[in-house]
Amino acid sequence: MCGIVGYIGREKAIPKILNSLKFLEYRGYDSSGIAYVKDNHINIIKEIGKIKCLEKIVDTMVDSKIGLGHTRWATHGIPSVKNSHPHQVGKFTVVHNGIIENYLSIKNELIKNNIEFNSDTDTEVIPALLDYYYKKDKNILNVIKKTISRLKGSYAVGIICEDDINHLYAFRCGSPLIIAKDDSGYYLASDVPAILSFTNKYILLDEKEIAVLSKNDCEVFSLNLDKIHKKINIFEGTQETIMLNGYEHYMLKEIHEESKVFLDTLNYYVKENKFKDTMINFKKYNKIHIVGCGSAYYVGLIGEYLISEFANIEVTCEVASEYRYKKVFYDKKTLVIIISQSGETADSLAALRMAKENHIDTLAIVNVVGSSISREADYTLYVKAGPEIAVATTKAFLAQVTLISLLAVKLSNKLELLREFNGLEKHIEYLLNLDYNEYAETIYKHENTFFIGRLIDYALCLEGALKLKETSYINALAIASGELKHGTISLINENVPVIGICTKKDMMSKTISNLKEVKARCAYTIFITNEDIQDDFYDKKIIIPKVHDIVSPIITVIPLQLIAYYVAKKRGCDIDKPRNLAKSVTVE
Ligand code: M6R
Repeated sequence: MCGIVGYIGREKAIPKILNSLKFLEYRGYDSSGIAYVKDNHINIIKEIGKIKCLEKIVDTMVDSKIGLGHTRWATHGIPSVKNSHPHQVGKFTVVHNGIIENYLSIKNELIKNNIEFNSDTDTEVIPALLDYYYKKDKNILNVIKKTISRLKGSYAVGIICEDDINHLYAFRCGSPLIIAKDDSGYYLASDVPAILSFTNKYILLDEKEIAVLSKNDCEVFSLNLDKIHKKINIFEGTQETIMLNGYEHYMLKEIHEESKVFLDTLNYYVKENKFKDTMINFKKYNKIHIVGCGSAYYVGLIGEYLISEFANIEVTCEVASEYRYKKVFYDKKTLVIIISQSGETADSLAALRMAKENHIDTLAIVNVVGSSISREADYTLYVKAGPEIAVATTKAFLAQVTLISLLAVKLSNKLELLREFNGLEKHIEYLLNLDYNEYAETIYKHENTFFIGRLIDYALCLEGALKLKETSYINALAIASGELKHGTISLINENVPVIGICTKKDMMSKTISNLKEVKARCAYTIFITNEDIQDDFYDKKIIIPKVHDIVSPIITVIPLQLIAYYVAKKRGCDIDKPRNLAKSVTVE
């Protein structure tokens, strides 16, 4: 949540910072701000709303060669100019992504020392501490070190000090931060897409490392202020990957990348129906815990069904925010799988750390290369979705489902199942090309929609409902069909469309009778299934290709994503940046 950028070099900083901020807007977009140096003075401009609002009030012609930028997702204090970043106290101007958990005690302590605060944010304690220590010691690295020792929580921070306007300083803990370089100078950013207009080479800053950037150089120090040599990473994609390329929204573009994403993920791990060396050879596990948040959790539920069914291993799946605070029973043969697109989700990272503290093997299924979860897990399997910009995850979900299905095959040792993945891309393409407007038409005017299904189809119902909720603001509810009669059916009437999903033959008659029950109560019903059943319990039907159970969820999710997209479009919603959300949830 929140995106930070910085630039120092030989070219004008402001256009570069605004450009980078636009590629970080997915991290938060309720307000933004920029700081730049002109005539030895630090200027700050902030505005509520998206980057385009800031752009209107910033003079891009200003000849400044150093600056910081920020796009905010409010945690402490409402979205307002006062609470937007950069924050300045004394000589220090700061942008921050993360949460300072102990900010109140620090703030109270500094207030007693006559330091004034002007915002409701946790962030402001960072420049305040820096300035406080700087009054006693003019060595900025020492001052940063002391400040880090006081902070609890997560932070990625960019700093300009008024007394040292030829350097940008940065440090991080918990929240991501990269440093990049091109021929003109150095960049600071929360994520790779922010720098792709300029370069594809970057370094990842590790926990509590401090970076000092000048127009010609970048030095990284450990917390003990020892110099560190950093590895340069190269981003594999091009800037094309993060452009709209003619699509109206990133969500639609990303859904339409799904057959490629499927093949890229499959081909990375499998060749000619055999696993490649890129797939891990697992030891024998008695128990698997799968943990994730939001859609990643639903991938986990799909994994729970597939791994237990095909590999015969006891699997449980939990949302990370619950798992991290529960009494969890591990044994030596437990594997904890953390699923996360961003690899930065705070609760998922905490769950991973909890497992590690208990000396349990951990496996990360992650999209973003070099993210915290990927770096801290014992094993990491990357999905090959590429950068995902829309806040609602689609292609990364499909790639994660592909990978968890491959994992089920690997753990089951039934390698013949790998054949079932062959040719699936054609089914993906087929489903991508159906017209979903007619289904969206029947849903978009209503305020409620139900999704019903059983077992693995119930996991898909959860994903379908979340996708509809977050993009169209319709109150969508996923119900395990068998639970309908235990209360929820009282909500059914002609204003509640019901989407029933059934891809499992042995569940067909059960789900059909549940659909009949809601139809009898006047619900408008849409049936998503792989059997061409002619009957009157549905008003509309989407037939998905009949494939093996091991790969069925990979294709079944596509109609759900596209229905959500077209409903949101008909309702005129801000599809790629839904209200109140941010893509990377790096706070608890
Ligand atoms: O980056 P992660 O996969 O860890 O994110 C988890 C959730 O925040 C994410 O899936 C969220 O639910 C999406 N908005 C769903 O579309």
